[in-house]
Amino acid sequence: MKIFFLRYDIVSDGNRLTAILSFIGRFVVYLCFNSTHMHKEVIDFDEDIKVIDESKQGDILFYDSNQPGFKKFYIESYGCQMNFSDSEIVASILAEEGYVPTKNMEDASLILVNTCSIREKAEETVRNRLVVYNKAKQDRPGTLIGVLGCMAERLKSKLMDEEKLVDLVVGPDAYRDIPGLLSRAEEGERSINVLLSREETYADISPLRLDSNGIVAFISIMRGCDNMCSFCVVPFTRGRERSRDWHSIVAEADDLFQRGFRDITLLGQNVDSYHWTCPETGNVVDFAQLLEKVALVNPLLRIRFSTSHPKDITDEVLYTMNKYHNICKYIHLPVQSGSNRILQLMNRTYTREWYMERIDTIYRIMPDCAVSSDIIAGFCTESDDDHRDTLEIMKYANFNMSYMFFYSERPGTLAARKFQDDIPLPLKKDRLAEIVELQRQISIKHNQSDIGKVFEVLIEGDSKKSSDYFKGRNSQNKMVVFPKSEVYCPGAYVNIRITNATGATLLGEIIQ
Ligand code: 5AD
Ligand code: SF4
Repeated sequence: MKIFFLRYDIVSDGNRLTAILSFIGRFVVYLCFNSTHMHKEVIDFDEDIKVIDESKQGDILFYDSNQPGFKKFYIESYGCQMNFSDSEIVASILAEEGYVPTKNMEDASLILVNTCSIREKAEETVRNRLVVYNKAKQDRPGTLIGVLGCMAERLKSKLMDEEKLVDLVVGPDAYRDIPGLLSRAEEGERSINVLLSREETYADISPLRLDSNGIVAFISIMRGCDNMCSFCVVPFTRGRERSRDWHSIVAEADDLFQRGFRDITLLGQNVDSYHWTCPETGNVVDFAQLLEKVALVNPLLRIRFSTSHPKDITDEVLYTMNKYHNICKYIHLPVQSGSNRILQLMNRTYTREWYMERIDTIYRIMPDCAVSSDIIAGFCTESDDDHRDTLEIMKYANFNMSYMFFYSERPGTLAARKFQDDIPLPLKKDRLAEIVELQRQISIKHNQSDIGKVFEVLIEGDSKKSSDYFKGRNSQNKMVVFPKSEVYCPGAYVNIRITNATGATLLGEIIQ
């Protein structure tokens, strides 16, 4: 009997029920009959394919740096990919100051944590980490501790009052000020800068690519968000939306390609509203045009993007995706809810009919496109009928995967001010469990329908579970694992015939 481990996509938010489901999901679910090679067969080939990768939460970003005489910094990152990307900007700013990154907290004279405020659990995690940093500080007096990102922005000086060990607090638009803040902190002063900017895009800073496999990289194309979804804290922590000069984006993509990178993701809270106006001519470049410019850097450079907003994704974007082979056929298009009443309370500014039309158009223009989503269970006043609408739209859209959450009220947001968080936690969790289970079934079906197909896969490196296998993604962002061949190495494109599938990973073999 062959046993494949199956893992479906879930963001558990640390609650017990979903954690248990996730646990079950990770282990034996899928049995197929064959052979006795238990050892070989129990390798779990599932690889993470998430844009917002929960398993990476708290990852330490580093490259090996044992140069003597340098000051060392240690940085952990939480939250979305944008935060991980920001940490690379911070690393670049610190490098200019003679700091080198280390993966050992004990070696660092500066400990930084890049934080997320999107759900209560994310903030709790950071608070727990601060206790650990405090221990390091006690062991090595003089060590400085800095809190960066959304939590710094949300709590401002209150964070310093509540967490006495924190030496500097820096909001997402104030990273250029870190050297000055460090000097002040070294003098024992309270060091805080949480000013938000309408212009800052860090366009001229070349991020220090930390913890990189040399193939995959992220490029921030814009910052902030103007959408004001009622549940979301991001517009308050990351400020107004602003787009980065396209010349610097294309230059960064070109530089990455020259250095061997082959897969880049253009990042923004709402990439479809990218909008850059040339100060001299007044000419505007929109997202479809930007995509085309980046796609033209080189046909061997794969382009991805995240996140799209259903109200803003245009047909031009879809036609541009279809026109260029190297623009990946994958769209992360959060639906949040399938109920019109809830969508309105969420201030998402589209209806379920609008969303379904966008889905129809995506599949009409690109039948092979994969779509993923974010879904919130148990938003204020959500009824059983509203919940059922969400399950229905998940089936309609046939999401290949989803990030699923239960609603977590965030202070200061529109929803916190206007609505009561009135769905009891056990009910939120029950609904989330139902959503997770449905997504699991849809994902399995999605992946099983790929069996027998041939995909072009970009090799990213060794499979996590076995160095006899490579892993890589197809255009649809699905992770594919296959036996190695000596002819190919990471960075190469190979054609893979899919022979088997789990919930999150495809298994296959190279075809010549
Ligand atoms: N509670 C639960 N989920 C949230 N998200 C954003 N704010 C909240 C909240 N208050 C989810 C949304 C968003 C994703 C990044 O996080 O689904 O798309
Ligand atoms: Fe938050 Fe909505 Fe902006 Fe996304 S689009 S960051 S959910 S306000």
